[in-house]
Amino acid sequence: MLTDRLRAGALEVAEHCATPFYLFDLEALGEGYREMERVWRREFERLTVAYSYKSNPLAAVTRRLAALGGSAEVVSGAELSLALSDGFAPGRIVFDGPVKSPAELALAAGLGVPVQVDSLAELDALLALPDGAPPVGLRLATRGAGGEWSRFGLLPAEVARARELLRRAGLPVWGVHVGVGTLSGPEAYREALVFWAEVLRELAKEAEDRLTVDVGGGFPPHGVPGLGWELYAAAVASGCRQAGPGPDGVDLLIEPGRSMVEAHGALVCRVAVRKARDGRDTLVLDGGTNLARTVKSRPHPIEFPASPTDGAGRYRLLGANCYEGDVFADDIAGPAGVGPGDLVVIGGCGAYDMPFAHVWVRTRPPVYALDGEGWTVVREPGDTIR
Ligand SMILES: Cc1ncc(COP(=O)(O)O)c(C=O)c1O
Repeated sequence: MLTDRLRAGALEVAEHCATPFYLFDLEALGEGYREMERVWRREFERLTVAYSYKSNPLAAVTRRLAALGGSAEVVSGAELSLALSDGFAPGRIVFDGPVKSPAELALAAGLGVPVQVDSLAELDALLALPDGAPPVGLRLATRGAGGEWSRFGLLPAEVARARELLRRAGLPVWGVHVGVGTLSGPEAYREALVFWAEVLRELAKEAEDRLTVDVGGGFPPHGVPGLGWELYAAAVASGCRQAGPGPDGVDLLIEPGRSMVEAHGALVCRVAVRKARDGRDTLVLDGGTNLARTVKSRPHPIEFPASPTDGAGRYRLLGANCYEGDVFADDIAGPAGVGPGDLVVIGGCGAYDMPFAHVWVRTRPPVYALDGEGWTVVREPGDTIR
């Protein structure tokens, strides 16, 4: 279901602006951030919430989170530069990701931005920097549900080697990253911490100040019933207790992306054409699935906001692109008699869909934001198709 604010906001903005456009609820972003912080702080007194830029780097979003006191998780030099320009001080940024170029490592080192090392080769490159290394974290590999190792991070023997190299260089381990796959559920976080218990205990003892334990992102979108923040905070606290240092013995860092933004963004289109095909009512929208690329892999609420509760009709919903597979939904309920000009809102587009969207045939849609009682333009429409 869409929120009432997104539904009403779509109707209001569409009275003044052409479709398709994205709509993002900044007010809900702030409320969600504060609630998440409050819940995690019950378990972890020292908490850093580093928003994962890759999930949606829209300036209105990142600057709002900077103003709310958040931190930033970046995975490239380009994201690092954006975070700095958005107002995150270097001490409020952490640099993650599987690949970091020598220039990116040097940039982080010059600023003192902590780097989560993903491979031994990367550690070698960091230690070879002429002006010294930044704070160094070790990304510890975790296993998937089937027992297979993740492609990310260091295996146990590599962790031992990395610690040895850092000891020889006289550098402390600033922290560890124990991230599990996206949407793995609370128990996966506890299990990953317990798996690495011995390393965590030793590093917590050796740490200059307090060991930073970063459990990454991967939490479900805001509002999924039965999967609230309480479950995740409790599982991570339990993992820290079982692993040794306990919630009071670590600086906890979380890197939420999807959970912060997915539910608060929507793509707003109008029906362009209605056709009958093989006895089915088919609606062709004025925007394509290139603007909401996860529609086939993630649940997206799709509503006709003018009459959201009237389920008298059933429709196949197609995008505006010139290929058969441009399908938003194969069979959805809607009001009877939907036709050209009627609004359709595709919810759940606030994470990944917006940055993954690609320009093709038509220019990139603008983004409008609901904020306080009104709405504003937060990203102008694109002006080219190439
Ligand atoms: C290192 C890291 N942190 C955080 C995230 C954010 O994940 P999510 O959007 O699932 O919260 C990702 C996603 O790929 C990631 O790779």
